[in-house]
Amino acid sequence: MNGAGTLQLPPQASTVAADIDALYYFIFWGCAIAFILVMGGMFFFMAKYRRREGVPYKPSPSHNTPLEVTWTVVPFLLLMVVFVWGFKGYMDLHITPANAMEYSVRGKQWLWQVNTPGVSTASVNEMVVPVNTPIKVLLQSDDVIHSFFVPDFRVKMDAYPNQYTTMWFEATKTGEFDMYCTEYCGTEHSQMFGKVIVKTQAEFEEWMGQNTGRQEDQDPAEYGEGLFVSKTCATCHSIDGSTALTGPSFKGLWGSQESLADGSSVLVDENYLRESMLEPNAKVVAGYEGVMPTFTGLLTDDDIFCLIEYIKTLQ
Ligand code: CUA
Repeated sequence: MNGAGTLQLPPQASTVAADIDALYYFIFWGCAIAFILVMGGMFFFMAKYRRREGVPYKPSPSHNTPLEVTWTVVPFLLLMVVFVWGFKGYMDLHITPANAMEYSVRGKQWLWQVNTPGVSTASVNEMVVPVNTPIKVLLQSDDVIHSFFVPDFRVKMDAYPNQYTTMWFEATKTGEFDMYCTEYCGTEHSQMFGKVIVKTQAEFEEWMGQNTGRQEDQDPAEYGEGLFVSKTCATCHSIDGSTALTGPSFKGLWGSQESLADGSSVLVDENYLRESMLEPNAKVVAGYEGVMPTFTGLLTDDDIFCLIEYIKTLQ
């Protein structure tokens, strides 16, 4: 198998994928063959020994030792193959190589916060890794149970509040691979997905070198517009005034008087917007639930400034 996707399974893009798929197909075809043998045998004997006119009824034998030993020993051996193979695969998946790079991934309603070793701010819903390198993922959740899943790598692990879990993978192909939250975690669960971007070692080092934020001559509002998408603000906030999403729209927000859940109101200025990014529950807007995660650690001071400049343009 060359690792391309099949009707049943997505492409194979990690070191463990081929082995997991081989075991899957062993079980799948084993079941298919057993199904045909059992059902085929049943219909064959139903037809062969059906009751007919003039054929006397014969009592069936109570017991056949060679047959009984066969149908006990053969399935036992097949299941032992599945057990040993599966156990070996489980150990491969759960014992992280000692030289792995350690990433931290935090689930929150409703985004993945990814910390790359050696990069000071976290990225959102995007994990950039080098190819052919073991990657350890330290998982955690800020609120409810999420589950980190990269189908092409055949790895999945729950992220819990108050407890760390780990998993690891080694990508064997460069490219972009879908990552999902695969545990129902609330309203925007279906929006909680992103990409694992696998780069060559040289491309990865280049990415590490330029991952330093805004260029000096770049317009803050324009950079902020990029952040609005890359930091997933767009999941919950519209920019066209529509109010169907989880959070208030940003259109016409700047300079307005916002009514708050506690009955008071606040002028939308730089300090209010900054506070709303870092301490979202300090002033919750009337009609909305206080469900936004904090972006502390996800945004640099310059990022916050650029987002505010961008919001100012949305009149
Ligand atoms: Cu997080 Cu579903």
